[in-house]
Amino acid sequence: MCGIVAYFGKKQAQPILIEGLKRLEYRGYDSAGVALLKANQFEVYKTSGRIANLEEILPETESRAVVGIGHTRWATHGVPNTINAHPHIDYTGKIALVHNGIIENYAILKKWLIKEGCTFKSETDTEVVANLIGYFYERNRARNGENAPSGSNRFEWAVQQAFNEIYGTYGLAIMCSDCPDVMIGVKKGSPLILGVGKEEYIIASDASAIIEHTSQAIYLSDGEMVTIHSEGFDTKTISNEEVTKELKDIEISLDQIELEGFEHYMQKEIAEQPQVLETCLKGRVDVKNGRVILGGIQDKLRDLTRTKRIILSACGTAWHAGLVGEFLFEQLARIPSEVEYASEFRYRNPIVDEGTIFIAISQSGETADTLAAVELAKERGATVLGIVNVVGSTIARTTDAGVYLRVGPEIGVASTKAFTAQVSVLTMLAIELGRRRHLSSEMAQGLLKELMEIPKKVEQIFSQKEQTRQIAQANIDKDNWLFLGRGFNYPVALEGALKLKEISYIHAEGLPAAEMKHGPIALITDNMPAVFIATKCSQYEKIIGNIEEVRARGGRTIVVATEGDEHIKPYADHLITVPDTVEQLQPLLTVVPLQMLAYHAAVLRGHDVDKPRNLAKSVTVE
Ligand code: G6P
Repeated sequence: MCGIVAYFGKKQAQPILIEGLKRLEYRGYDSAGVALLKANQFEVYKTSGRIANLEEILPETESRAVVGIGHTRWATHGVPNTINAHPHIDYTGKIALVHNGIIENYAILKKWLIKEGCTFKSETDTEVVANLIGYFYERNRARNGENAPSGSNRFEWAVQQAFNEIYGTYGLAIMCSDCPDVMIGVKKGSPLILGVGKEEYIIASDASAIIEHTSQAIYLSDGEMVTIHSEGFDTKTISNEEVTKELKDIEISLDQIELEGFEHYMQKEIAEQPQVLETCLKGRVDVKNGRVILGGIQDKLRDLTRTKRIILSACGTAWHAGLVGEFLFEQLARIPSEVEYASEFRYRNPIVDEGTIFIAISQSGETADTLAAVELAKERGATVLGIVNVVGSTIARTTDAGVYLRVGPEIGVASTKAFTAQVSVLTMLAIELGRRRHLSSEMAQGLLKELMEIPKKVEQIFSQKEQTRQIAQANIDKDNWLFLGRGFNYPVALEGALKLKEISYIHAEGLPAAEMKHGPIALITDNMPAVFIATKCSQYEKIIGNIEEVRARGGRTIVVATEGDEHIKPYADHLITVPDTVEQLQPLLTVVPLQMLAYHAAVLRGHDVDKPRNLAKSVTVE
């Protein structure tokens, strides 16, 4: 949800900013821009569209500036045109900044600033921040009439004055043309990292824009700012109290964020699943004793075992994983559980008490709605756990304890490997809780043995790549699809539909298969493919019945079935198979062909798979 990058050092800033923006483009791609600072002058280039469009408007000779800021936008306030693109320059022309987040009180501030004589060019909330800093900098006087303390850095002081007035979420990099040897980063609610290299610093929304230059970074907390200057950098709170930050190692490597021969990140991330799931399970599963060791939450296991209620909360694909989690906790551990959309949860005065276990699931660890739900659950006394992929992310740091997915960076906007890892972690947790309550060791051993087989079985599904491509091809002109599953495959139906929608822009609906007859069946024609997830499970006969209902009405079926199931063949216009496994683990396999189907449909329709229209990978606004 907007990516920011800023360079301060001795090298030419421009190519470093452009490379950084390309790494961050998954966060938004509505517009892009850079501002470079040289000889007390800003050079600003910005345009609507992608980084590639920005490159086209950059002058042939690269700027020699060694300080600069860049932005790739996911539009909130104002249409994605050039004027609304970042960086924004204030009315005095001295302040330039890039921003990720939302300024909630921007309208009030804008009105006041206009009254004070400031002028505005864009429709964005961000320009208010630029003008507010410019206003305090120019006047050198606080709102209460006091002058800036003598000897203080006026630029830094003006930034602090401005943020005393601002409500909202922000990660910003700010420059002042009077002070080319100073750059400021400020954070609240949106991620911001300072990469610390040898005589160079990079501020960025995430580590992918930093890793090429240094593997050392500090992670700013909410309400903190960093001032970089020629002697190094200082960290303090926005209200000017010194804070000491620890230098940490960035845990991702360059090859993890490269395409490595794949055409798209989504394709790479689907293909990586066998290997990353193995990493996710490694060292955590003790098949012999039917136990699971999840180091990050070991201290909380007593609370977890005794709890009377688990609330899982997440958005998008992570919510679908949470729904599988709900079924697993109830079935294996017999703990009442429910999954909540994070965006709804926080606004309906939910019942949460000290005995509640609240589990937030998030790939990025930055989703604003999920974070807000975490904060509310904490406030109400719940034990709050996180199942997160990005190490050191805000949700990971805000929760009481948690389990990392260990799948490496997920860059494709459509989540794939994070989903299967989220389900794997939830499965491990449910089995361990089950063991501590009533689940027999034989049952746990059996489940864990099967779980350890999953990576290999996912690999086997890939032999049907061409077949899935052909199925996508045969249905590529169909604009409406249904995805239907029962039991553990119902969340997979939702996820299959979401995948298709988000990257191929085909309308798709996911449903519990039996619900179809309560309305959606009216839509069935031979023009609406119905994807059934009909693996061998306790509801197999029932779902065959649902397939019959569709076929009787002339519907076309794409069936995901268990390998070797001959009986199902006559029910399928198109068949994809997955290896057999126990019912509770089937989502880990059945989702894979649906990821592949969506991928091929998007490629065949000529869409940009990794950067689908209107979406962003990390949604840091509510
Ligand atoms: C966005 C992404 C989805 C993702 C959801 C939750 O909508 O496009 O792919 O599932 O956010 O993200 P999180 O990082 O919290 O898992």
